[in-house]
Amino acid sequence: MDGSIFGLEGKRALVIGGGRGMGESSARLLAQAGCDVAVLDVDPDRAGHVAEEVRMTGRRGIPVIADILDETVTPGAIAKAEEELGGLDVMVTIVGQALFKPLMDVTIEEWDYDQNRNLRYFFVAARAVAASLLKRGKPGSIVCIASVDGLQGAPFHASYGAAKSGLIHLVKSMASEWGRNGIRVNAVVPGTISTPRLPDTDEMREAVANSPVALGYSGTTDDIGKAVLFLASDMASYTTGSTVMVDGGWMAGNLFDPRFMRIKHKI
Ligand SMILES: NC(=O)c1ccc[n+]([C@@H]2O[C@H](COP(=O)([O-])OP(=O)(O)OC[C@H]3O[C@@H](n4cnc5c(N)ncnc54)[C@H](O)[C@@H]3O)[C@@H](O)[C@H]2O)c1
Repeated sequence: MDGSIFGLEGKRALVIGGGRGMGESSARLLAQAGCDVAVLDVDPDRAGHVAEEVRMTGRRGIPVIADILDETVTPGAIAKAEEELGGLDVMVTIVGQALFKPLMDVTIEEWDYDQNRNLRYFFVAARAVAASLLKRGKPGSIVCIASVDGLQGAPFHASYGAAKSGLIHLVKSMASEWGRNGIRVNAVVPGTISTPRLPDTDEMREAVANSPVALGYSGTTDDIGKAVLFLASDMASYTTGSTVMVDGGWMAGNLFDPRFMRIKHKI
């Protein structure tokens, strides 16, 4: 790939949760576009594997092992990435997961944990990276991964939906506060994406084919990586506070699409 169109040659990126899936795709595509990449993951093998993948593109790839949900660890982990790469221009946060439970059964501890692993850690990490950029008077790009569940109700995973909705809102506030300093902040909004944790089984394929997802199939981690690359790069130089939908048209569809209604009515 000729990466020059992205304006990312020699830029330095940190991918939090970069050890597999969407993070791996993001790290690899950023490297192919010319970035040196720090791959932060709680799993040393995953971080090491993707850092090696980055190095195979000819760029610097370094693993950073840290639990990003521990706010006492975050500043040190980000400082390590900055030290090893000589600064940071891009940060991508991938980590996030949903607790599936009826609202009535969600404990306060579970609620807080879901807020941390989807929203609070991003607040901590984005502030740390932005503080460093502001101190050095440098521009930068921050990209997080939200979800369609932050745009619609999330029954039986409400704490996740609330956190992802908060993420989409926080991105707008950060973009507004830091825009005049050249720091852009955006979110990618995945729909149903085939990942190591959510593989594209026959059952899943059938469910998505018979759903309002416009394209009728799940996306890939590279579909997310491409959107991350776009937002991280100069291709998105006038895009900030934005949500980029990568949902195969899920949010464009409607439950009352007669093709997918169990009760048949005339079209
Ligand atoms: N798969 C989908 O259809 C879908 C849809 C909407 C949104 N999303 C979002 O996409 C993102 C990625 O989801 P995924 O299932 O591919 O991720 P994942 O569970 O595969 O995790 C990505 C990486 O993050 C690492 N990680 C997990 N906890 C960590 C921690 N505390 N500190 C450091 N690293 C940690 C993991 O080891 C892994 O390598 C999430 O934010 C999720 O909410 C996924």
